[in-house]
Amino acid sequence: MTLATGPDFVERRTIEAHLADGTRVRIRPIEPGDKQTLADGFARMSPESRYRRFMSPIDELTPDMLRHLTEVDHVDHFAWVAFALDEPGEPGVGVARYVRLADEPAVAEAAVTVIDELQGRGLGTLLLQALGAVAIENGIERFRGYVLEDNRRMRQILEESGAIVAHDAPGVVRVDVPLPVADAAIKETEAYRALRALARGEGPRLLRWGALWSPPGDPAGQV
Ligand SMILES: CC(C)(COP(=O)(O)OP(=O)(O)OC[C@H]1O[C@@H](n2cnc3c(N)ncnc32)[C@H](O)[C@@H]1OP(=O)(O)O)[C@@H](O)C(=O)NCCC(=O)NCCS
Repeated sequence: MTLATGPDFVERRTIEAHLADGTRVRIRPIEPGDKQTLADGFARMSPESRYRRFMSPIDELTPDMLRHLTEVDHVDHFAWVAFALDEPGEPGVGVARYVRLADEPAVAEAAVTVIDELQGRGLGTLLLQALGAVAIENGIERFRGYVLEDNRRMRQILEESGAIVAHDAPGVVRVDVPLPVADAAIKETEAYRALRALARGEGPRLLRWGALWSPPGDPAGQV
């Protein structure tokens, strides 16, 4: 089964999320019109963050790359983009995407990027979890990522998601994350339910991300 993509696909999945520290972001599926947003966001990333994401020292996204990164089908290739609502012009500040592998259709390569100024506030984790929810709806069972060995922050996120880590090339690890396709315990958590609703376009308009993890019954956990 896959998500039906109609004319209101993006609109139904556009939400405002408040991170644990109060940072406000809008999150929605990426669109072809986001090329400049991506180019501007890339320009704000440090050389180190660019290298960690693309594993090569690139200093700009070419028109071909921007086309590939924004013209997606939302099934085999999906991306969430996050915009900072508290900054003038509401710039793009984070992206998480997956691309299904042609020869292993239950597996998709996934990557996430948050601009340096907003790192460490939970946005990368939120984007990756939201990406997982869409992937499950589209029949993907496992994310694969290639991460530099010393990328502690990304490895922390992945290891908390039950990642299986294998050596790939010198300095690079290959990480496989099984998505909770059949895990009833995870599927009944409040966080999972909210993300699944978001993926299906039936989600809350406002997501308080930090609060999703608070103990059941805590009113702050309501979404
Ligand atoms: C990796 C990346 C996406 C994480 O995004 P983020 O928004 O900073 O991540 P989060 O705030 O959700 O933090 C994730 C974890 O990193 C760890 N972390 C946070 N700040 C950290 C710091 N200053 N140093 C080391 N680890 C840190 C924390 O353990 C956190 O998990 P927690 O829930 O236990 O606190 C972001 O750092 C990034 O874009 N890096 C450059 C590109 C990249 O490396 N992409 C991954 C390759 S695909």
